Amino acid sequence: MYTPFKVGDTRIETERLLLRGWEDTRQDAEDLYAYAQLEIVGRPAGWKYHASVEESRKILRMFVEEDDCFAVVSKETGKVIGSLGLHEPKAMDADDPRRGLEVGYVLNPDYWGKGMMTEAVRAVIDWVFHNTDAEVLFCGHFTFNDRSRRVIEKCGFTYLKNCVCVSEQLGETFDEKMYILTKNA
Ligand SMILES: CC(C)(COP(=O)(O)OP(=O)(O)OC[C@H]1O[C@@H](n2cnc3c(N)ncnc32)[C@H](O)[C@@H]1OP(=O)(O)O)[C@@H](O)C(=O)NCCC(=O)NCCS
Repeated sequence: MYTPFKVGDTRIETERLLLRGWEDTRQDAEDLYAYAQLEIVGRPAGWKYHASVEESRKILRMFVEEDDCFAVVSKETGKVIGSLGLHEPKAMDADDPRRGLEVGYVLNPDYWGKGMMTEAVRAVIDWVFHNTDAEVLFCGHFTFNDRSRRVIEKCGFTYLKNCVCVSEQLGETFDEKMYILTKNA
């Protein structure tokens, strides 16, 4: 069962990161565009790179409207360096009575390989299980995406099943591996 999530005033702090709601500002739009313009960021997440900062601003306004996605801010630079969303879980069986959310994330490549997204996801898992009624979290990666696979493994998820993800934006179909993490696992 999908348990809709709203960021609201939530702020989650880790050693190097602050997670907060997206803000409809020029600065957040520029920080978003800095990484969303790159195919290496968007394609593994199933979306098309942004063609301009104006396009990023439009998508930023959707983030603000939907409010189910954290901006991941580097405490060192104050810049938004990624996003982490909690969405409707596509891998959850319709008759599963547990409340669930699916984690999705992207990070600016300047910050890859430093354990940052693992730090963010671990903090969000802890926060979700202590502050929402979600009992189960899902996360998936396209089969070629070993970086994301490692984040998922390091955060304690276990393999659930394979899915097929159709990206209308990209006009491509991807094989995806889905993982699950249960509260008190
Ligand atoms: C996936 C992503 C968020 C990872 O963020 P990150 O902060 O770099 O992740 P971490 O540093 O915590 O972990 C990355 C792991 O991948 C490993 N890695 C790095 N380059 C790799 C490569 N070419 N092949 C395989 N693994 C690689 C790292 O060694 C690390 O694993 P380790 O701790 O076992 O050494 C980031 O790469 C990204 O934004 N990618 C594009 C968007 C995307 O794929 N989103 C996820 C959609 S499911």
